[in-house]
Amino acid sequence: KQASVKPLIDVQEKAAKLYHHILVNTKLGESALEYLHQRKISDEMIETFNLGFAPEERILKPFFAENKTDYQLLRKSGLFTENTSGDLRDWFVGRLMFPIRNTSGATIGFSGRLLQKNDDLPKYLNSPETEIFNKRRIVYNFDLARPNIRKDHDLILFEGFMDVISAYQAGVKNGVASMGTSLTNEQIYDFNRVTDHVYVCYDGDTPGQKATNRAVDLLSKEGHFNVGVIQMPNGIDPDEYRRGQGSEAFQKVIINGREPIIKFKINYLRSQYNLSNEEDKLEYVDQVLHLIASLDNPVEQDLYLNEIATTLDLSIESLKTQVNRFQKSFS
Ligand code: GTP
Ligand code: MN
Ligand code: MN
Ligand code: MN
Ligand code: MN
Repeated sequence: KQASVKPLIDVQEKAAKLYHHILVNTKLGESALEYLHQRKISDEMIETFNLGFAPEERILKPFFAENKTDYQLLRKSGLFTENTSGDLRDWFVGRLMFPIRNTSGATIGFSGRLLQKNDDLPKYLNSPETEIFNKRRIVYNFDLARPNIRKDHDLILFEGFMDVISAYQAGVKNGVASMGTSLTNEQIYDFNRVTDHVYVCYDGDTPGQKATNRAVDLLSKEGHFNVGVIQMPNGIDPDEYRRGQGSEAFQKVIINGREPIIKFKINYLRSQYNLSNEEDKLEYVDQVLHLIASLDNPVEQDLYLNEIATTLDLSIESLKTQVNRFQKSFS
């Protein structure tokens, strides 16, 4: 099996080089380059992440034909679609190309983004699953982030690879992302090998918050590290924040915006209930008190109990009594 992997990677690397060349050196890539510059992505990041462009006209097929690359190899590269008569056509057309690297830094596939919104096509298109491209296993940017994760003793998990690139440009170089799929055990396994602190910094919109809730649960259950959350303001995503507020403000949020899971949960759960309804309110309090009962630190418990007593206009004594009951039932 090992022997078959090298040529497959070779094909991806060659394609990446061609896409990159088209983006930075040719007229075909002008609009895509302009798009990146509008998004305030620097030329340095375009190089570091080897970004590229797959133009409307299909270029990969003739390129590999010229190189006399083996047809069977091309078939299983994930870079082509095949019609019933066995003709190959480029899989990626008219898309900004993000090479996806494995943990050793080798390119194993791509994700391509449309430059303009199109209701008939997905915003991002990934390479199909191949022998070397397995979405469940991919941790985007793990190779470049790893030394920084070791140095900083923490890893920041973003939702999208644009956020990873944007953060990297702002000097936050310990960021990784999963490939659009929700977080997997395989990815958590990789995190475990390099860090004991993971911060989830997903988008501030509703899907992002929902995904955060799922991620913190899975990380706490499957990982052997401390888990925290970094909240983005006003429903925006990390890349939008960096673009709007600049690198320094971005770095500050990454440091000062860190909060423990319990704080995220208190706020997240609150958004799931209608607190003007009494039944809902009691259910919410019950959920939150269970979480508070699981905290080891009594000072921390007090802090959050006070907060809840104030916001929900309840007595701190009754809340404490209930937490004590829950704690007894744990032990
Ligand atoms: P930009 O709009 O370019 O800023 O992208 P984003 O990083 O903000 O993406 P978004 O928050 O919409 O989605 C997060 C991640 O989900 C992306 O990095 C992709 O991996 C994935 N994703 C988003 N849209 C699609 C899609 O249409 N198809 C697939 N397969 N994945 C998607
Ligand atoms: Mn270059
Ligand atoms: Mn999102
Ligand atoms: Mn986003
Ligand atoms: Mn975005």
